[in-house]
Amino acid sequence: MQRSEASPFKATARAGSNIAFIKYWGVADPRLNIPLNNSISMTLGALHTTTTVEWDVAGRLSADEITIDGERAAGPKAERVICHLDLIRHLAGDRRFRACVVSRNNFPMASGIASSASAFAALTVAACTAIGLSLDRTRLSAIARRGSGSASRSIFGGYVEWERGNDDATSVARQLFPAEHWALRDVVAVISTAEKAVSSQNGHALALTSPFNAARVDAVYTMLQEVRNAIALRELERLGPLIEQDALAMHAVMMTSRPSLLYWQPGTLEVLHAVRRWREEDGLPVYFTIDAGPNVHLLCEPAFERELLRRLQTLSSVRTVITSGPGGDAEVIDQHLF
Ligand code: PMV
Repeated sequence: MQRSEASPFKATARAGSNIAFIKYWGVADPRLNIPLNNSISMTLGALHTTTTVEWDVAGRLSADEITIDGERAAGPKAERVICHLDLIRHLAGDRRFRACVVSRNNFPMASGIASSASAFAALTVAACTAIGLSLDRTRLSAIARRGSGSASRSIFGGYVEWERGNDDATSVARQLFPAEHWALRDVVAVISTAEKAVSSQNGHALALTSPFNAARVDAVYTMLQEVRNAIALRELERLGPLIEQDALAMHAVMMTSRPSLLYWQPGTLEVLHAVRRWREEDGLPVYFTIDAGPNVHLLCEPAFERELLRRLQTLSSVRTVITSGPGGDAEVIDQHLF
């Protein structure tokens, strides 16, 4: 990625969030965020983070300044960003520069949609570009992974697989198919916008305490090729049951961890039962997946989206619906946020 000549040491990047079909849950190495299994996702075109980073080469700042969605970040949220900036400072061989970071999500952070994937992908691309590190996407994916595992996938657009790998260099994502390959829709039934009680960052450490974790990881390895094939053939009837199985397996691991994590709410179950009923009784080809929260992502072909939206409006626990198709790679853009 090239930085602009007009404002050296300043760059802006945009990255899409993503929804995992095969989930990342559990870490083999918590420092490097090396996962227990490969994961596969679709990068979301309509839900993205834009981040501008300017490195203060003049030495005016005594600390990094971070603003997220118009608010000055403090506490653990700011520390996580500073830790990522430290990594990039280290890679660039200069630990002195402080940074001014302004970041904006085009979806409400409290919407229950994962913002850490798009946030750390955009931060990585903007900060590396601004400091003059010219890196390929594979390397950027490895760096983004350190901020948030799922961010490694948001460096790439379309359909993406993150290889578990063995170390920092090999645990990276790659694109399976570009966004144009399949115009699948992700329709998110928002049940709650409350901040989750246990962040996914803390949840990963608990996966190994579940007696079902090893069984889920084994099952993932038998499903990966089937998932790749179903995406290659654009066959939602093959992909959907696999996605649902892994989402339920991940939540079984969460629920049986010590301490137990229970992300579902009554509304989550209302949507799951409705989707099964619509599929079985009316033949509506819609499949669900759920991340570390109560909201339900529904995957369907564009031809069925309107009917799905109409039906979701009849469910009392669905507060709002957010929709997206697949989107492109994380990219450097010209419009700075400051
Ligand atoms: O990248 P993290 O630490 O926010 O973890 C993401 C975890 C899930 O969203 C539940 C699954 C996934 O693969 O995105």
